[in-house]
Amino acid sequence: MRPPVSGRTRLAAVIGDPVRHSLSPVIFDAAAAATGADLAYVALEVRAEDLREAVEGCRALGLVGMNVTSPHKERAAGFLDALSDLARRLGAVNCVTLDGTRLVGDSTDGAGFIAALRHDQVDHVGRRVAVVGAGGAARSIIAALAEAGTGLITVHNRTPSKVGPAVDLAGLRGRPGGEDDLRAADVIVQATSVGMGDDRAIPLDPDLLHAGQTVIDIVYHPIETPLLAAAAARGARTLNGLGMLVGQAAIAFERWTGLLAPVEEMRRAALHHLTRG
Ligand code: ATR
Repeated sequence: MRPPVSGRTRLAAVIGDPVRHSLSPVIFDAAAAATGADLAYVALEVRAEDLREAVEGCRALGLVGMNVTSPHKERAAGFLDALSDLARRLGAVNCVTLDGTRLVGDSTDGAGFIAALRHDQVDHVGRRVAVVGAGGAARSIIAALAEAGTGLITVHNRTPSKVGPAVDLAGLRGRPGGEDDLRAADVIVQATSVGMGDDRAIPLDPDLLHAGQTVIDIVYHPIETPLLAAAAARGARTLNGLGMLVGQAAIAFERWTGLLAPVEEMRRAALHHLTRG
């Protein structure tokens, strides 16, 4: 159990709309319980028209920090005192830290994704990675992969006009991808919301997948998306999006508490919550 809330308890939150199904409170509670951190974490539903006041409320209320989720990641970046270089490049934040009286925004989804690759021993350095999607999540992953030494990053997206700006985030390591690149990839990252909930769609031709590949879906609900089921049936290694979610939560926890994040406990709590009853 986490310590009981007291006058000394520090508070953090995630803001989004909708946000009531967020796993982040469960993950942070597990981290607080495992480390004894006196941190309480709540999910707050914030409407678009209230976003500025909500972000500034972080300072007024003295929260240690705030995670920002859909649909506010882009607009919230405009209400902060400072942004990391990466947040500025991506034009989005998912992690806000109160530094003295300044609200500092960062984009840590990509770093969380790389942490998950390390945790699960997925070799991407010098390898070929195909990223499906060119939205906010895909862009943060592309930038992080390029930074972390991926050999070639190919970008695949339903709307071709969005591919160029996403490729640019990978610098010389990136280019637009085609079917041959999906077949030749060592790692395929599904970075769209396709396959979430009851959606049975698969955003690529599953017959391009094969043994020897690792297929990662950033979706974690359901735990096994239709894409991951198709990939497993063809002999590929599969990973869902829980690793990335926990990875970015671990970064925030460490930043806000100064403690080492208990990643295994955080993962276990998220998985337990998703699979319970
Ligand atoms: P997020 O922040 O979750 O990445 P986003 O920025 O709105 O959300 O990006 C959504 C991504 O999912 C885009 O790459 C989008 O493709 P388009 O650029 O063609 O819109 C992709 N996407 C969403 N629904 C899709 C679908 N049904 N099939 C294929 N791609 C889809």
